[in-house]
Amino acid sequence: MKKSTIAQTLTAAALAVAALPAAHAQVSPLEVVDGFEGVFGKQAGFRRSGAKGICASATFTGTEAGKEMSSSAVFSGAKVPVTARFSLGGGNPKASDIAKITRNMALKFNLPKGESWEMANISAPFFAVATPEQMLGFLKARAVDPATGKNDPERIKAWNAANPEAKPQIDYLAKAPIPASYGSVNYWGVSTYKFRASNGRVEYVRYTFEPVKGLESLSEDEQKAKGANFLFDELRQRVAKAPVEFNMVVQVAENGDVLDNSTVAWPDTRKRVVVGKLSIDKVSADDKGECVGITYNPMVVPSGVETGPDPLFVARASSYAVSLGRRLGEGAKQ
Ligand code: HEM
Repeated sequence: MKKSTIAQTLTAAALAVAALPAAHAQVSPLEVVDGFEGVFGKQAGFRRSGAKGICASATFTGTEAGKEMSSSAVFSGAKVPVTARFSLGGGNPKASDIAKITRNMALKFNLPKGESWEMANISAPFFAVATPEQMLGFLKARAVDPATGKNDPERIKAWNAANPEAKPQIDYLAKAPIPASYGSVNYWGVSTYKFRASNGRVEYVRYTFEPVKGLESLSEDEQKAKGANFLFDELRQRVAKAPVEFNMVVQVAENGDVLDNSTVAWPDTRKRVVVGKLSIDKVSADDKGECVGITYNPMVVPSGVETGPDPLFVARASSYAVSLGRRLGEGAKQ
């Protein structure tokens, strides 16, 4: 690399950091990850969120409509290998599969020329907090007192009352049916991305992965019969019979849509475009696999895709790195 190019790159990096709102830049990822440990305990070797999970592999094939919207190799139409991970929300590696928490699907698209797209998606159309500061507050309010092993319901109630942005997700998860399978629920990316087309057109989008065979949930009796640990085997058995497919659908923003706040969903009336199909074709037989060393950093995007102005992107990238460092240092378990 020529000297001038390095200087330009450094200047661009400095400007990018300088452009971050000061208040957001001050939230320490160490404090955030400590915050997860305060809620879930220090679960050595496990992710501080999405702790109970399993590796899988998939392929992705973009549609013509996807190719028109983004120049990314993701949408070239060629089969792209994907390293996937399914998990439950939160940092408890023994969480129950019938708990009223998110189901997650994290994906890493392994593209030609060393490019990749990493994403971590949840089974709710919005996130619980809008800013890194609010994330820290959310965690601190739910911290468990080491002396009693319990959190303080009054403190949580007070935080919820003071942070109405969290209500849509809290209410959604309280009411959402319990999925019968990791393959039978919608996964939202939640945050806003920019798609850049080969003709230079730029559009703001949000994406969802929707199971081709539709949604399936469990009745209360079925939940009792299935118990706390059925999702991994269920997915193994389902995929052994036939690949589990999801359509990747993007919503396209219109003028005035909120781009920088993941707690606010866009109206259902926004244009929806099917940009590709994901096909899960293999599930790990145990707790090992390629996904273990991946942190699914949502700022890793290929050319043709850019992150939007949501302040959570930087907070996620930095705290995922801290969590990855801790769990690898502890001998990563899943
Ligand atoms: C400031 C906001 C956020 C913080 C601090 C945060 C923090 C974390 C951390 C520390 C991990 C563990 C990373 C690892 O060890 O590899 C994680 C995993 C995860 N997060 Fe977040 N997160 C945030 C926002 C979000 C949002 C908005 C979404 C979804 C749309 C999301 C979805 C996930 C998923 C699905 C995983 C598990 C990924 C996997 O299977 O490896 N997070 N998060």
